[in-house]
Amino acid sequence: MNAQMLAETTRAMLAEGKGLLAMDESNGTCDKRFADLGIAQTVAMRRAWRDLLVTTPGLAQYVSGAILYDETIRQATIAGTPFVRVLQDAGILVGIKVDVGAKALAFHPSEKVTEGLDGLRERLGGYVAMGARFAKWRAVINAAPSGAHLPSEACVRANAHALARYAALCQEAGLVPIVEPEVLMDGGHSQAHCLEVTEGLLRHVFAALNTQDVALEAMVLKPNMVVAGRGCAVQVTVEAVANATMLCLRRVVPAAVPGIAFLSGGQTGAQACAHLNEVQARYGDRSDQSQPWSLTFSFGRALQHSALETWAGSGAHRESAQRALMHRARCASAACIGRYDASMEL
Ligand code: 13P
Repeated sequence: MNAQMLAETTRAMLAEGKGLLAMDESNGTCDKRFADLGIAQTVAMRRAWRDLLVTTPGLAQYVSGAILYDETIRQATIAGTPFVRVLQDAGILVGIKVDVGAKALAFHPSEKVTEGLDGLRERLGGYVAMGARFAKWRAVINAAPSGAHLPSEACVRANAHALARYAALCQEAGLVPIVEPEVLMDGGHSQAHCLEVTEGLLRHVFAALNTQDVALEAMVLKPNMVVAGRGCAVQVTVEAVANATMLCLRRVVPAAVPGIAFLSGGQTGAQACAHLNEVQARYGDRSDQSQPWSLTFSFGRALQHSALETWAGSGAHRESAQRALMHRARCASAACIGRYDASMEL
């Protein structure tokens, strides 16, 4: 483990006013989003979409790193420049999703465990050689599996263990691990339930990280915000989301962790920015000893969705889609320094 390199990468990922662009959808997820908008589900179209994203002029002003998928990290622009080189030349760090997806957990219908540990050391070595500086692994937790009040202990422990094994292997390879335990917004659960599940999950994740000797100083946590389930009749205010999210994180995330980069999880771009902004405005004062972490974004849909809708697979809309991406990135950047407000959406 090269501690100095990991520290430098972590610092650069968490640069003030910047966040991460998650553009690491698996082919299946990317194709599903394309299908919803009538875009052809082909390698060529996925490449054209990722080309549009990475070549957006000025993106580095708001984005410190981009998380790629295995197919994308090997691709080049239409003009022939590798995507990795385009990002590096723009001053954007290259990240890579290294899990191979969430699979059905034996004996626990409706729960999943994320796989990908077999052969991971060798794969990480390959990604480092390609220019990656950080990695991502996402565990997905169903907040209220059918017939149950909480996710099962089997699901929580299996996912926490895998996240910790992954994080240790990343640090050994010289990559900063993004540790992403996500409690899904799907379902009718209350915000209080989301708080209980997220807190319990994070406790298990940090216990497992400690067991595997992961250096907390050289990782980024990517949690969900504490929101009510999408189907819950009682939706809560922006202030309530910020308060519950920070209550949860303060209870369980050690001060040694340098940064927390929130996922958007299916919130709209405006919702995700309003929530992040409120978190930052209320809790972001780092001169206050109780607030040890950089707080930023690692959004996928909340950054990409409006741009994808604008593009809709047509080269003629390429520049307007890049403008849409820049608008969302500008809003997210403002939110991570507490300077976003709804008038930016007009
Ligand atoms: P969303 O922001 O769309 O949740 O995506 C973030 C991500 O990286 C999921 O793994």
